[in-house]
Amino acid sequence: MKKWNLNSWTKYPAKHLPVYQDKKELDLVLSKVKKYPPLVFAGETRSLKKALADVVQGKAFLLQGGDCAESFAEFHPDNIRDTFKVILQMSLVLTASASVPVVKVGRIAGQFSKPRSAPTEKKEGKELPSYLGDNINGMEFSEKARIPDAKRLFRAYSQSASTLNLLRAFSQGGFADLRQVHLWNLGFIKDKTKGKYKEIEDKISDALAFMESCGINSDNNRRLRTVNFYTSHEALLLPFEEAMTRVDSTTGEYHDTSAHLVWIGDRTRQLDGAHVEFCRGIKNPLGLKCGPTLKPDELIKLCNTLNPENDPGRLTLISRFGADNVEKFLPKLIKTIKKEGLNVVWSCDPMHGNTIKAATGFKTRPFDSVLKEVQNFFAVHQTEGTYAGGLHVEMTGQDVTECTGGAQKISENELSSRYRTHCDPRLNADQALELAFLISEEIKKNSKYSKKIIQAAS
Ligand code: PEP
Ligand code: CO
Repeated sequence: MKKWNLNSWTKYPAKHLPVYQDKKELDLVLSKVKKYPPLVFAGETRSLKKALADVVQGKAFLLQGGDCAESFAEFHPDNIRDTFKVILQMSLVLTASASVPVVKVGRIAGQFSKPRSAPTEKKEGKELPSYLGDNINGMEFSEKARIPDAKRLFRAYSQSASTLNLLRAFSQGGFADLRQVHLWNLGFIKDKTKGKYKEIEDKISDALAFMESCGINSDNNRRLRTVNFYTSHEALLLPFEEAMTRVDSTTGEYHDTSAHLVWIGDRTRQLDGAHVEFCRGIKNPLGLKCGPTLKPDELIKLCNTLNPENDPGRLTLISRFGADNVEKFLPKLIKTIKKEGLNVVWSCDPMHGNTIKAATGFKTRPFDSVLKEVQNFFAVHQTEGTYAGGLHVEMTGQDVTECTGGAQKISENELSSRYRTHCDPRLNADQALELAFLISEEIKKNSKYSKKIIQAAS
């Protein structure tokens, strides 16, 4: 095994990293960040890995969701609360109707940097460097805003820390108490979804009343009162990730303390690239985006590099092919992973392969394509006899109009009314909940085969 150290990635070609004009300032900023407290702790990342190992075995389902890109402008406690609420609601739908425990992971508290399809952006004849995320440069279309500014890392760190602080309070401090399910509702949820959700609320109230009569309630049972909520982001901006990576004093292992889970994007997963080199040395659970250009033999090499011990829970493969391409690409990958006996979580990102440009110029995703990719993902796994273990979505608790369709039947013409994303279009709360209902149906359909998988694995 090649030697790894904190900055060995700098010897490999790195795609999608910004070029900072003022290197001295970058070094100064990073040297300060290195002394900042960790955002997450090694013990927590180990619990997440354990929870993901249950997903590998078909005993739980992974739900990962949040903004495409967090931003300084949208930073508000209500937005954090509403995203958290929707993730809780989606989990509840999955747990209550498909009887599956849900591992909850937010794309939050550090999801800033973005790989972009083009290095520059043109508007009215003017060409400027692309926006790369609020921790790198500004979205405003001006020369000054688009210059990478290392000082932005301070603000991003501070925003991540206070976001995480609120999330910890919500998940441990009473907000996630099952007795509060009715309070998680959001005002604008459409009747269709609301009705189905109400049925689940009633089912939970009945179950809680029954448990209460047996002497079990959320005052004496922590699990009814709290949830484990984990954070994640794409490990794109390697200088920052390196600065946040620390040695865990109890084991001597390196952990990237900027999030519990980090993933490698579809554009930066080169075997001989800097991002893979960095991620192979940290002990966090890792995600790997798998798009149409990923060849099966390349995937095996990546798995062996990133998870040489074949440790269950270490690696989550997040497929994102586009609704019509799932059947073309996914079976080959599944077959090779199966043949090699590799332990992975299979998760589906139904967002990034389904982005289109509306006639009105907005980047959007038709809700039907999102649903279709998920359905095809489940169908392929059922055929292959593998466990469809997770969902990775770009969503928000706000009532935005960024993806077309869904119960609100958002049309292309309506996109402009509440289009607020800093990067890709997100599902709004209603669309996200609707997706959760659909997935619980798929899981129920597949529960027979997942039981077989558990038996085979144990
Ligand atoms: C993302 O998750 O925001 C992203 C850029 O995805 P991908 O790497 O799959 O394109
Ligand atoms: Co995105």
